[in-house]
Amino acid sequence: MERKKYVVIMAAGSGTRMGSDLPKQFIEIGGKAILRRTIEAFVKACPGITVVTVLPEVHMGYWRDYCIKSNFICPQIIVKGGITRFHSVRNALSKVPDGALVAVHDGVRPFVTPELIRKMYERAAHVQALIPVLPCVDTMKMLEKKKDAEGNPFLDEIPGAHVDRELLYGAQTPQIFHSEILSEAYSRAYDTAFTDDASVVSAHGKKLSFVIGERLNIKITTQENLVPSKAILEVIGKN
Ligand code: C5P
Repeated sequence: MERKKYVVIMAAGSGTRMGSDLPKQFIEIGGKAILRRTIEAFVKACPGITVVTVLPEVHMGYWRDYCIKSNFICPQIIVKGGITRFHSVRNALSKVPDGALVAVHDGVRPFVTPELIRKMYERAAHVQALIPVLPCVDTMKMLEKKKDAEGNPFLDEIPGAHVDRELLYGAQTPQIFHSEILSEAYSRAYDTAFTDDASVVSAHGKKLSFVIGERLNIKITTQENLVPSKAILEVIGKN
């Protein structure tokens, strides 16, 4: 039987790096909130998908009002975020049954294309965990944070440390899982090494599969990211 599709949209970050009072997921680009654009990509790709939106508790009312005022009619299960991204995902998974396909996606990655989403759900039906990655284009350095005699911080080389760029890939979202595997993995104790869902599932001993992601699927983290965001909207066609 075909697995039902769920998406957990992670939007419970406080967005302090953006330097604004309004968390970045609620900022509008091209007249629509970033979070709305993100949710719309999934609904467009998979009509009938169940959307679980994870929000900071203090912004739940704000988002409900925004959806009404901006005529954004999309059924969403709204869940309260946790202290870290890990705890937010865990809260959301309480709303996702076993036997489904669940994508976990950053609410601040609005430019993921419906084509990639569709392709990934198709492939994810046949593997335990599917992760979009991009080959690393920068030369990577392994450095140590140190302090000089006056206590000023500086970066120093780790002698002999070499990173082969050919082996390095950056992980993006959406990451798609068989829901019972993701829920099982999230029953583990939190570890600071869990920076994405793939790392939680991998620590739980499950096999990861990979697809090539999209360069324009950027994570809007800082104020500077808003500038290319407007250009990306032009490229992908704003609506
Ligand atoms: O902080 P970071 O950039 O890793 O956040 C990635 C995504 O996880 C963002 O969409 C953010 O809103 C979300 N997040 C969350 N709950 C937290 C922290 C981050 O849903 N406690």
